[in-house]
Amino acid sequence: MYAVIGGSGLGQLPDFEVTRRQVLRTPYGEPSGALLIGTLAGREVVFLARHGYGHTLAPHEINYRANLWALAQLEIDGILAVASVGGIQPQFGPGTLMVPDQIIDYTHGRAATFFEGDNQAVQHIDFTWPYDSGLRTALVAAADAVGEPVVQGGCYACTQGPRLETAAEIRRLARDGADIVGMTGMPEVALARELDIPYAHLALVVNHAAGVGDSAREISHAQISKTVQDGMVRVMAVLKSLVQL
Ligand code: HPA
Repeated sequence: MYAVIGGSGLGQLPDFEVTRRQVLRTPYGEPSGALLIGTLAGREVVFLARHGYGHTLAPHEINYRANLWALAQLEIDGILAVASVGGIQPQFGPGTLMVPDQIIDYTHGRAATFFEGDNQAVQHIDFTWPYDSGLRTALVAAADAVGEPVVQGGCYACTQGPRLETAAEIRRLARDGADIVGMTGMPEVALARELDIPYAHLALVVNHAAGVGDSAREISHAQISKTVQDGMVRVMAVLKSLVQL
């Protein structure tokens, strides 16, 4: 069974038939909400809305450890994480779908590991390739199968938020080699690796990042909403295709 973590613009899964809700408390506190278990395109899937079901949690308020720990209780085969992001490279404009293969962490102050505290052996997980290559390949194949172009590979920069970046910050991320920018990838990706759960991002670019293209002056929220609506229909087509592979 796959888990889908929905980000901004995907607080629920259209066409997902929920058969049960599981409320889990964890040693790390409460997840963003109940885990919804049901069927998508005829396959069993568990869904969690990263920002809560009413989109009330800012990126730095999300209890990433509780979310990952709760999902791990369900013996999932992998996590398909949907993310709305800004495009740093001008060619990655609104509507671009990307399956990144690298991530850079610019966040601070987030609870970012399970390996701390009393009686816990310190472990340094390998994170050279932060995403699961099998799941990445499957996402790309699933997109191909429904005729959705996706950019294979790329570097996701995770900023702290909740504010958007300055134009200078985006220029710095570009110099660092980042292609897209979001606020929730870390520590989510690292925690999945600590628990040995295959994880891949399906990122939808919803705006040019600050200072890029039509975001040269400012970022338009009206434009973002429209892109999110159209884009999530395509994201859903890819997810449905993937669970049926
Ligand atoms: N920056 C950071 N996170 C985002 C953006 C952005 O421009 N767009 C959507 N999520």
